[in-house]
Amino acid sequence: MAIIKLGEDIRIRKIQDNTEVVPDIQQLKLNLEQIEKGGYDHFMLKEIHEQPQSIVDAYRGRLLASKGIIKMGSVDNNISRFLNANRIVIVACGTSWHAGLVAEYLFEDLARIPVEVEYASEFRYRNPIINTNDIVIAISQSGETADTLAAIKLAKSKGAFVFGVCNVVGSSIARETDTGAYTHAGPEIGVASTKAFTTQITVLALIALKLGNLKGELSNSKFNHYIQELSLIPGKVEEVLKMDKEIEKIAAIYKDAPNCLYLGRGFNFPVALEGALKLKEISYIHAEGYPAAEMKHGPIALIDEHMPVVVIATKKGHYDKVVSNIQEIKARNGKIIAIITKGDTIVRDIADHVIEIPETEEAFVPLLSTIPLQLLSYYIAVMRGCNVDQPRNLAKSVTVE
Ligand code: M6R
Repeated sequence: MAIIKLGEDIRIRKIQDNTEVVPDIQQLKLNLEQIEKGGYDHFMLKEIHEQPQSIVDAYRGRLLASKGIIKMGSVDNNISRFLNANRIVIVACGTSWHAGLVAEYLFEDLARIPVEVEYASEFRYRNPIINTNDIVIAISQSGETADTLAAIKLAKSKGAFVFGVCNVVGSSIARETDTGAYTHAGPEIGVASTKAFTTQITVLALIALKLGNLKGELSNSKFNHYIQELSLIPGKVEEVLKMDKEIEKIAAIYKDAPNCLYLGRGFNFPVALEGALKLKEISYIHAEGYPAAEMKHGPIALIDEHMPVVVIATKKGHYDKVVSNIQEIKARNGKIIAIITKGDTIVRDIADHVIEIPETEEAFVPLLSTIPLQLLSYYIAVMRGCNVDQPRNLAKSVTVE
């Protein structure tokens, strides 16, 4: 309980026993300009458009592309722990959990380290098996999510080494973890997480690449290729943002849909989940994300001429399989909005609408494929008259169970 009286210092007492608490006050380095809308109608739109810069900020000083180095103090200082880890357990909630799923593909693919991704809320109430050689990574934009914080405390009580990936400097999670890396996305005001997601993936990709190279899973030339490619991502995000108007037109067609399905495979499966979460939380349209191949195990029954299906069908990965999923949807008259790689004519010919994204390494596709989905949700929500930045029933930081 905080007692604030005019002209007096703030006093903090515990509600349980009324004892005085001495606060540990940390001054946040916030720039007022950063937390204003800067000419955009909503914080969410501003934050979507900030992503080229926030991704640069996430890798600035870490990705030294010209030298072919990834430098991360908190990883370098604990490198033997990382290299000898039996597995990585990721705990997070919501969008941060989706970033954790992308990280699962990154760590397994690039560094060959087994990964388990857990909802912090489930992890904390199980009796999870944590070994001393496991690394727990907690991901959180706010650094204040109660379930993630409790999961960290549990992991630490079992002797785990806990690494945090947080945005808010000095937050509870940043302080509770053994060490970590900030995402440097800048303040995220919109309740729907956007730039936090892409910067979390950027930081986790840096760690996976570094470990992959040090473990000998990624040759120096492959490693160099990846880091060059990662340094091109902000420019490619700029290109995707230029599709803004086209995406707005697609939004106008589907704004009244009661349901929407999102499909993706491999690295794009978490993107499908994230796209569905963005739509439901700000526009209140029921949306589901699925791995595309799971469609035939149930969701295909939902498809008819009224069902919009957003398919992330980029060229890398299981492209041919996704194309056949798209044909199955088409055969049932579903409406297809496809995210495709620039120049792809095969999906363009089948889909009702396409949004092109530039080509990149498969591991980095989520950094591009997620952007049109953020914009699509944004425009649909605006057209439905929803309060985009402050959707009903939601809080920016979920500090209670
Ligand atoms: O601050 P955190 O990243 O720990 O927050 C986790 C979730 O509450 C958050 O991602 C939530 O799902 C967002 N509203 C999604 O846009």
